[in-house]
Amino acid sequence: MSHLSKIEEIRTKAFSEIESLGSYPELQEIEVIRVRYLGRKSELTEILRSIPSLPQDERAPVGKMGNLVRKQIEDHLNAIIEKAKKLEQDQKLHQEKIDITVPGKRIEEGGLHPTTLTAQRMIEIFTKMGFDIEYGPEVETDYYNFEALNVPKHHPSRDMQDTFYMSDDTVLRTHTSPVQIRTMEKMKPPVRILSPGFVYRHDQDISHSPMFFQIEGLYVDKNVSCAQLKGVLTEFFKNFFSEETRLRFRPSFFPFTEPSAEVDISCVVCKQKGCRLCKNTGWLEVLGCGMVHRNVFKAVGYDPKKYTGFAFGVGIERLAMLKYGISDMRLLFENDLRFLKQFRTL
Ligand code: DAH
Repeated sequence: MSHLSKIEEIRTKAFSEIESLGSYPELQEIEVIRVRYLGRKSELTEILRSIPSLPQDERAPVGKMGNLVRKQIEDHLNAIIEKAKKLEQDQKLHQEKIDITVPGKRIEEGGLHPTTLTAQRMIEIFTKMGFDIEYGPEVETDYYNFEALNVPKHHPSRDMQDTFYMSDDTVLRTHTSPVQIRTMEKMKPPVRILSPGFVYRHDQDISHSPMFFQIEGLYVDKNVSCAQLKGVLTEFFKNFFSEETRLRFRPSFFPFTEPSAEVDISCVVCKQKGCRLCKNTGWLEVLGCGMVHRNVFKAVGYDPKKYTGFAFGVGIERLAMLKYGISDMRLLFENDLRFLKQFRTL
């Protein structure tokens, strides 16, 4: 066979092998073909290397044809290599693809509980008037919770404040009033404190929870008067609800104050026209208060002839309900987000 037809045959074989690689060749397979047809030991390289020993008239055509075919095979292989590389890259890109049209995951925004928001607002108003915050324990002794507050054992007013007894002498506190005693024991007048915290009672219905949140207020100094008590509470409620809020002080009884009063505010819903909330009376009961009883002063070693003071205790959930228009107190304890989400601000 002549060299020229041999070269022609090499081309045909090389091309058909390249074609047989199919549409998705791997780089490795291509390399095998490249070595076979263009490598140092390939037939074509042998032929080209043997040109100097060929008869004079064959050298030029064999050289020309040989180099042409070499170039054609090379080009063909290069094109295929390009295609394979691109394919490989496309596959990689496809695997790593990020679908920017997929909807994002919403980050839930947290918020404060309506009771907390209410407490914060109350504290804000009272601290502006000069009250400092004091805390006391939720597990309290009988002495601080009752005795020192002029509620002796077997006093009938203990009935209204039944609670969980850890022992005969230790209770879950029924009100924040014991913080009055704890504070006066460690401080000399003037005392101006506000004490927020949880309290516990044997009570549960639409407007009572066995655990609830109270704020206690206490102001003791020389010449503290009932007028100041009225002034402070009036200022508070006008700020908390609205300027048109009116207050009514109703004589009442608490063992730790004398005189004692319950405070009603003008109905925040009907503005005293009469509605279900105020049971058509136009008034809503909101807290208990009074002038600190001399027996309480005696318990903490204050001289009742020298000092006077006022105190008050207010339920925070009750104010939250009035502020937000919530009709069932239990909603505040169920932690249902569908409910809580409605109250983001005060
Ligand atoms: N401790 C009372 C209660 O929980 C509320 C109260 C009434 C607190 C009168 C006071 C007060 O400080 O003077 O029902």
